Amino acid sequence: MKKHTLLYALIILAFNCKENQKEAVTSSKYVEEPHSNAKPNESVIKHLDLDIVVDFEREIINGSATYTLENNNASEIVLDTKFLDIISTEADKKPVDFELGPFNKQLGQSLKIPISEDTKQITIHYKTTAKTEALQWLNAQQTADKTHPFLFTQGQAILTRTWIPIQDSPQIRITYNAKVTVPKELMAVMSAENPKEKSKNGIYHFKMKQAISPYLIALAVGDIAYKPVSHRTGVYAEKSMIDKAQAEFIDMEKMVTAAENLYGAYDWDQFDVIVLPPSFPFGGMENPRLTFATPTVIAGDKSLTSLIAHELAHSWSGNLVTNATWDDFWLNEGFTVYFEIRIMEALYGKERANMIALIGRQDLEEEVEGFKDEPNMTKLKLDLSAKNPDDGMNSIAYDKGYLFLRTLEETVGREKMDAFLKSYFKTNAFSTVTTEGFIDYLNANLLTPNNITFNTEEWIYNPGIPENQSVIVSNAFTNVEQTLQSFLNLKSIDVTKTKDWTTQEWVHFIRNFPETITLDDLSRLDAAFNFTNATNSHIAMVWYEQAIHHNYHGNNVDQNIEEFLIRVGRRWYVSTLFKAFKNADRVDEALIIYQKSRPNYHSVTANTIDALLGFESK
Ligand code: BES
Ligand code: ZN
Repeated sequence: MKKHTLLYALIILAFNCKENQKEAVTSSKYVEEPHSNAKPNESVIKHLDLDIVVDFEREIINGSATYTLENNNASEIVLDTKFLDIISTEADKKPVDFELGPFNKQLGQSLKIPISEDTKQITIHYKTTAKTEALQWLNAQQTADKTHPFLFTQGQAILTRTWIPIQDSPQIRITYNAKVTVPKELMAVMSAENPKEKSKNGIYHFKMKQAISPYLIALAVGDIAYKPVSHRTGVYAEKSMIDKAQAEFIDMEKMVTAAENLYGAYDWDQFDVIVLPPSFPFGGMENPRLTFATPTVIAGDKSLTSLIAHELAHSWSGNLVTNATWDDFWLNEGFTVYFEIRIMEALYGKERANMIALIGRQDLEEEVEGFKDEPNMTKLKLDLSAKNPDDGMNSIAYDKGYLFLRTLEETVGREKMDAFLKSYFKTNAFSTVTTEGFIDYLNANLLTPNNITFNTEEWIYNPGIPENQSVIVSNAFTNVEQTLQSFLNLKSIDVTKTKDWTTQEWVHFIRNFPETITLDDLSRLDAAFNFTNATNSHIAMVWYEQAIHHNYHGNNVDQNIEEFLIRVGRRWYVSTLFKAFKNADRVDEALIIYQKSRPNYHSVTANTIDALLGFESK
C-alpha cells in the first residue's frame, strides 16, 4: 500500500515537473507583441538558409527560405509575410499546403505551414512583388557613378517580412547563411561575413554566425568596392565615393577601441560601413558587421562622423541587447545616443560631446513642443499596438532617452554608471530586454545596492521632461549665441570670431535665429557665409529650414532646396524641410517639389511625407 502511494507520488511529481518545464518555455520566453503574427512560444525559427536570385530586370527577388525549427508540440508554424508571392512550401523537403491569413495594412499576412512533432525544417519558395516596402531598386541615374543599378534593403522596424517570409519580431534571434545570385558586374554584401572583391559568376555566399533579430538582416547590391581602414574596419562604396569614404571614416578603429574600453569587447569581429546612394532613408542603419550609411555624412572634414559612432554603439545597445518589442524602442536608441556621445567624448573631448548633446537637447525641446496636443507620444515607453511602429519612432526615444541616462550618470557617478552598463550588456548579450526588465535590472544592480533613489518610473512612464534633468553647458555654444546676438544688434559680423567654427557651431548659430530676423539679415549672412551653397549637408539642411520658414528667396535658394529634396532621401532631412513648408503655409509649393522627388524616395520616407502633406498615392 505504502509502496503504491510512493510510486503514485513520484508519478505526480514527474508529471508536474514536465508541466512546469513546459510552462517555462511556453509562457514566459517570448512576450506578447502586437507587430508580429508569429507564435514563437509554440514553434520558433532558429536558423535561416536563404537562396535567392536578385533580378534587376523584373525588380524582384526570387528564391527560397529554409528554416531550422524548434517545435514545442505545435501542429503549425506561423510566419509573417507582406506583399510576397508565396509559391510553395515544404516540411522536411516534402510539399505541404500552406495557408495565408487575411491582409492587415500594418502587419501583412500570416503564413501558416503544417508541421508535426518531429519536423526539423521548412522551406518556402517565394518572390517579392512591386509593392515590397523593404527594397529600393535604383536605376543607374540614382547612384553616384551613374553606370549600374543598385539595390538595398531596409528591415527596421517591420519591413523584413516584405522581402523574406519570417517570424518578424525583434525577440526572435536567428543565425543565417545565404546564397545570393546577382548580375556578374555587381557585388552583393549583407549583414554577415562579406566578400572584399567581386566574384566571377555573380554568386555570393554569406554566413552570419551570431544570432540576430530579423530586422537586422540586410542586403545591398551594386557596383561597389572595398577599402580597409584597419584590420577589422573598412568601407564599401561606389568607385567615385570610395576614397572619400575611407578618408572620412579614418577614425573608425579608434571608435571601436574607445567603445570596447567603455562597455566590453566588440562581439561581431568586423565593423564595416557601406556608403549607399543618396536616397537611403536614414543617416545610418546598424546592420550587424555592416552599417548602412547615407552619403550625406561625407562632409570632407569628418564633422558628421558621430553618426558612425552611433551605429557602432548599436553593436551593443540594439544588436547585442535588443528591445523586446517596438514599444521598448528607447532601450535601443536612448542607450545608443548615450554611448555615441561617450565615444565622441573619448575621441574628441568633452566640448565636442556637449555640442552634440546640446543639438539633441534642442531637438527634444522642439519635439515635445510639437507633441503638445499628444503628450503620450513624449513617453519613453510607448504604446504602438494599434499603430505602424514606424509612426511612433520619433526623436523622444533618442533625446529623452539620452537625457535620462545622462541624468542617471550624474546622480550615481560615472564610475558606477559605467560598471553598471558594462554588466548590463554582458548579462543580456544576445537576448532581448523589455522596459520592465530593464527597470528591475537597474534597481537590482545599481540603485538598491548603492542605496540611491531615482525617479526612474517618472522618466519612463510620464510625458514630458522631469525636473531633475541634467543641464548641459557648452562654452562654445554660449559664444555662438553671443555672436548671433551681436550680429543682430550691429548688422555686421566679425568673421575672425567665426573662422574656426565647427559644423556643430554653425548648426547651432543657424537654428537659433530669432522669429524677428529680417530678410535683410538673412541676405547679409548668406552673402558673408554662402549658406545657400553649403556643401555640408547638415548646415545646408538647417539653413534651408530657415529660408523656407522666413520666406527667404535670395541666392537662388529655392532651386537648391528643390535639388536637395530630389537628390536626398534621408527622412530626417526631408521631413524637416517639408514640415517647414507646411508650417509656413506653403504646402502648394511643397507638393510641386514632392511630385518630382517622391519617385526617388524609399517607402519609409515616402510614407512619412505622404502623411505629412496629405498626399494620396495612386
Ligand atoms: N536604427 C536607426 C534607424 C531607424 C530607426 C530605422 C527607426 C528604422 C526605424 C539608426 O540607428 C539611427 O538612429 N539613425 C539616425 C542616426 C543618428 C541618430 C546619428 C538617423 O538615421 O538619422
Ligand atoms: Zn540608432
